[in-house]
Amino acid sequence: MKFLNAKSLYITSRGLYLKRIPIIPRVLKFLNRVLFTCDIPFKADIDKSVKFPHNALGVVINDNVIIGKNTKVMQNVTLGGNMGKNKMIDGKITTAPIIGDNVLIGAGSQVLGPVKIGDNAKIGAGAIVLIDVPGGQVAAGVPAKILKSTRNGNTPSIDEENSQ
Ligand SMILES: CC(C)(COP(=O)(O)OP(=O)(O)OC[C@H]1O[C@@H](n2cnc3c(N)ncnc32)[C@H](O)[C@@H]1OP(=O)(O)O)[C@@H](O)C(=O)NCCC(=O)NCCS
Repeated sequence: MKFLNAKSLYITSRGLYLKRIPIIPRVLKFLNRVLFTCDIPFKADIDKSVKFPHNALGVVINDNVIIGKNTKVMQNVTLGGNMGKNKMIDGKITTAPIIGDNVLIGAGSQVLGPVKIGDNAKIGAGAIVLIDVPGGQVAAGVPAKILKSTRNGNTPSIDEENSQ
């Protein structure tokens, strides 16, 4: 099963979509839904280095999401729209989160609407994020607030088992 996983199905579907191959990307997206219980659309622009520990279990991502390098998306994360709200981020109108590089998106968190999560930010497990999170900051809670201080500024160690 090393080569058949949620991320490889996404990457293959994305590649075929960018080459304008019809139908197969949709089939692969459907397979991902059935085999790995996740919804990772080929229209979303997710860097190949992004990690989905636990094989993206329960991860749901909007078509308009962009995710940068080396970001980790834990299980049961939603990166989605919020009632059609839109905003200009990085010179482009969008309705969904734009996530930077080296971000940790904690288990069960929901990042909703046109928000920007800066490089090296951390989103706490279970957070509902409705605001921009500047680079290097930690946001947690419902609704998420930027934490003023944390006991340690380092990325918590995460079980790498099943990471891809
Ligand atoms: C948000 C997070 C990155 C912060 O880690 P940290 O920098 O070590 O922060 P600390 O543990 O020092 O916590 C700082 C404060 O935030 C609070 N906090 C931490 N995580 C929180 C969360 N997810 N939700 C709400 N509050 C949280 C702590 O209680 C603490 O509050 P206090 O200062 O009033 O005591 C981490 O707690 C987290 O949620 N990681 C996600 C890990 C994950 O998804 N694991 C899944 C493995 S399968």
